[in-house]
Amino acid sequence: MKDILDEKDKRLRVISKDVVFPLTKEDKKNINDMLEYLKNSQIEELSEKYNLRPGMGLSAIQLGIAKRYFVVVNEYDEGKFENYVIINPKIVSTSMEKIYVEVGEGCLSVNREVDGIVPRYARITVEGFDEKGNKIRVRAREELAIAFQHEIDHLNGILFYDHIDKKNPFKDSDKYRAI
Ligand code: NI
Repeated sequence: MKDILDEKDKRLRVISKDVVFPLTKEDKKNINDMLEYLKNSQIEELSEKYNLRPGMGLSAIQLGIAKRYFVVVNEYDEGKFENYVIINPKIVSTSMEKIYVEVGEGCLSVNREVDGIVPRYARITVEGFDEKGNKIRVRAREELAIAFQHEIDHLNGILFYDHIDKKNPFKDSDKYRAI
């Protein structure tokens, strides 16, 4: 896989462009590489063996490709993984309720712990396209919903800590539900 860009890299701040179908061979390879990386990184034995930082999602821009797609690998049950590949994603509906990751959000481009609350919708519906260009619609809740919002932010040049209040990182903690 191509190297994952570090937070200091300015390319992480660009707004990625819509994908035009069909996907290029390079994009298909990147998608497969990202899925493989994420799955292996969540299997302790492999993450230690290959020294992979554990992660749930990656967007194309994190590999330096300014195209609007991301992948998420979700361990929905112990040792069971489901893959999401969403191209040209759009959030079409959201819950009123917001949640945040109590231990703090993480990012494979941010190699340090960042404390603070990142408010996210508890439930969202995303529309986009699969790798073949078929229209898809995915509902996500809780951790998966956070992962989708985090990745869609990447496509708009936003990093998770941009949402954290610098002076008071735990501001409004009573307004949102911790997960
Ligand atoms: Ni990230």
